[in-house]
Amino acid sequence: MGRIPPTPGGPWTGILLAASVLGSCLQPAPAQTQAPVSIVLTPPSPVVGRGVSLAPHNPPQDLVTCNWYRSATSDENSRILSYYPGPPPVQSNGSAHTGRETAGPGCALTIAGLTLSDTGNYTVRIESPTSPGLGSVYLRVYEMLPRPTVTPNQTQVPENGTFTLTCNTSPSADTVLWLLDGASLVPSERLVLSPDNRTLTVLNATRGDAGTYRCEVRNLVSTSRSEPSTVTVAYAPSPGAHSGLSAGAVAGIVIGSLAGVALVGVMAYFLYSRCRNKTPTENGAPVLVYENLPPTAGAGPVAQPGSPPDPGPTYETLQARQPDLYEELKK
Ligand SMILES: *[C@@H]1O[C@H](CO)[C@@H](O)[C@H](O)[C@H]1NC(C)=O
Ligand SMILES: *[C@@H]1O[C@H](CO)[C@@H](O)[C@H](O)[C@H]1NC(C)=O
Ligand SMILES: *[C@@H]1O[C@H](CO)[C@@H](O)[C@H](O)[C@H]1NC(C)=O
Ligand SMILES: *[C@@H]1O[C@H](CO)[C@@H](O)[C@H](O)[C@H]1NC(C)=O
Ligand SMILES: *[C@@H]1O[C@H](CO)[C@@H](O)[C@H](O)[C@H]1NC(C)=O
Ligand SMILES: *[C@@H]1O[C@H](CO)[C@@H](O)[C@H](O)[C@H]1NC(C)=O
Repeated sequence: MGRIPPTPGGPWTGILLAASVLGSCLQPAPAQTQAPVSIVLTPPSPVVGRGVSLAPHNPPQDLVTCNWYRSATSDENSRILSYYPGPPPVQSNGSAHTGRETAGPGCALTIAGLTLSDTGNYTVRIESPTSPGLGSVYLRVYEMLPRPTVTPNQTQVPENGTFTLTCNTSPSADTVLWLLDGASLVPSERLVLSPDNRTLTVLNATRGDAGTYRCEVRNLVSTSRSEPSTVTVAYAPSPGAHSGLSAGAVAGIVIGSLAGVALVGVMAYFLYSRCRNKTPTENGAPVLVYENLPPTAGAGPVAQPGSPPDPGPTYETLQARQPDLYEELKK
């Protein structure tokens, strides 16, 4: 129980009276009494090319008509359609109708063949004797993201140089991530992302920054990763000395290659001569005999590459050793 004002018959009655009169005056005002209507999207993340349903939650049983608008307000210029449940149900198209919108039971609006430009606010106004309502919903249409591409502003970066990588993707990609050699890239003082993550700037490049870069783009309905884009980091002091170091590198490569070729040649020759020395002895037992010899003359096989066709030494050896074998057998 509240406290009774000191003078019950005084100013309070006047205020209460004024309030009630004001209330009764405002009551009939049409738009003010509309209950808020929440709208259910099915599916919640609609995709380009497919459809979506916008259904008022708990529509009144006695609804007379409902109007749908492509706008955050019930503005006649943005009216898509009006729906009379009937029976029979009647749909009356408005100026914002695109040929893809239909209404159905419960005032649900269905939009077919969605495009990205269907993204926006939608409003429904429900007329009913007992519970008129008004509600808006924001519809976001998603696209299956196409594969992004990575563009470096240079692919050969001097040590301590700066380079940038751009991830080319749809504006509707919500998340852009970077990978170097398959591992997630963490931003740092040297690895700087633009606010939308679409540009990566690498400062004071080191050898560790060389590798294959990819970007990965995501939205609620898709994920897509670019092909790798390779960046190399040269040790050279970048300005001025470019040609000098390049020549040095070339010289190194040439010398290295020549040395490699020479080495391969020597090995090939060595193997070749070993094979030729071996083949004549591939007659079973003599192999054992021959392999026992090298410890006494290590350079033997290489020193006699020209003579293998000459069967003399081999047969001599065979003949010399065979008696030993027989001797061993006799023992
Ligand atoms: C309204 O649009 C729907 C869907 O395009 C169509 O089937 C219907 O005939 C249209 N109604 C009127 C009255 O034009
Ligand atoms: C949708 O409505 C909200 C609230 O009125 C507004 O902030 C937003 O900009 C609207 N969005 C579009 C795409 O019109
Ligand atoms: C690449 O971008 C960086 C940073 O903007 C700049 O310093 C560098 O000179 C650019 N390289 C080329 C080849 O444009
Ligand atoms: C930007 O990249 C950072 C680090 O990879 C990530 O945490 C963040 O979610 C990304 N933001 C956007 C909008 O892509
Ligand atoms: C890059 O190198 C310069 C010169 O060595 C240095 O002053 C600067 O602080 C470095 N910047 C970063 C982000 O490491
Ligand atoms: C790159 O920076 C490092 C550290 O500041 C320095 O030691 C090195 O000499 C620099 N290299 C070139 C090629 O400028």
